[in-house]
Amino acid sequence: MPVPPRSPSHSPASVVAALRAAGCVFAEEEAELLLAAARTPDELTSLVDRRARGLPLEHVLGWAGFRGLRIAVEPGVFVPRRRTEFLVEQALAQAPDASVVVDLCCGSGAVGAALADALGRVELHAADIDPAAVRCARRNIAGYGGQVHEGDLFAALPDGLRGRVGLLAANVPYVPSGEVGRLPAEARDHEPLTALDGGADGLDVLRRVAAGAARWLAPGGCVLVETSGRQAPEAVRIFAAAGLSARVAVSEEWSAHVVIGTCA
Ligand SMILES: C[S@@+](CC[C@H](N)C(=O)[O-])C[C@H]1O[C@@H](n2cnc3c(N)ncnc32)[C@H](O)[C@@H]1O
Repeated sequence: MPVPPRSPSHSPASVVAALRAAGCVFAEEEAELLLAAARTPDELTSLVDRRARGLPLEHVLGWAGFRGLRIAVEPGVFVPRRRTEFLVEQALAQAPDASVVVDLCCGSGAVGAALADALGRVELHAADIDPAAVRCARRNIAGYGGQVHEGDLFAALPDGLRGRVGLLAANVPYVPSGEVGRLPAEARDHEPLTALDGGADGLDVLRRVAAGAARWLAPGGCVLVETSGRQAPEAVRIFAAAGLSARVAVSEEWSAHVVIGTCA
C-alpha cells in the first residue's frame, strides 16, 4: 500500500518550527525523537502540543536515556539527569565487585538500573518516599530482579540489609529551599517538590543519609551522593562527622560533584 504523503503540519520542518517557537533549545533533536515516537499524525500533534506547553521531553516521550538505557519516566516523577551518570561511574569505580546495591531516593530507579546493568548479578534494592516514583522504579528495575520499597529513607529497607550493603547510591534532593523558585519551569512545574527541595542549605536529606549509612554498609562499603560544587566541602564534613572517610569527585564535563564516603 502506498504511504500517504505527510501533511505539511506534520513535516519534520513544521515540528522543528513549532518546538522552536515554544522555546525548545534543541528543537531539531527533539523533533527527531517526537517524530520517531508518534505512530499516527494525531499522536504527533498531541506529543508536539504537550512539549510546546512545557512538559519535559522525557515525560512526553515516556522515557529518558541514561547510560545507554531507556528508563521509563512517568509524569510527576523526577527526570534522571545525564549529570548523574557521573555518580554511577564513580560508584562502579569505587566498588566494581559490589554484590548488594541500594538505590536510595531512587525516583525512576535510573541509578539502580544502571548499576545493576553494569555489575551483572547483584542483589538490588531501591527505595523512595513517593508512591509514583516507586511504581515507576518497579518498571525499570524489575528486569534486574530488583525490589523497590516505599518509605522514608532507610526506614523503607528490609532489616536484613543492615551491615550488608556494598554500594549505597543516594541522589537525594539538594536544591536549597530558597532556590527552588529559580529552577527552570520544566522542573518547578512538572517535578515534585520532594524530589528537589533539600531544605535551607539543600543538605537536610544528605545529613540523614550520612547519619544512617554506617549501620547499613558492609565493612569497606561506600555511599555516594551528588551535590553542587558549593555544597561539596560541607557534605564532606558531614560524612566525616558520621564516621565515614570522605572525598569529592568532580566531573568538569558534567559540572557534577559526587561525595563518596567509605565505611571503615
Ligand atoms: C533528585 S531525585 C533523584 C531521583 C533518582 N535517584 C535520579 O537520580 O533520577 C530525589 C528523589 O528522592 C526522593 N525522596 C525525597 N525525600 C525522600 C525521603 N525522605 N525518603 C525517600 N525518598 C525521598 C524523591 O521522591 C525523589 O524521587
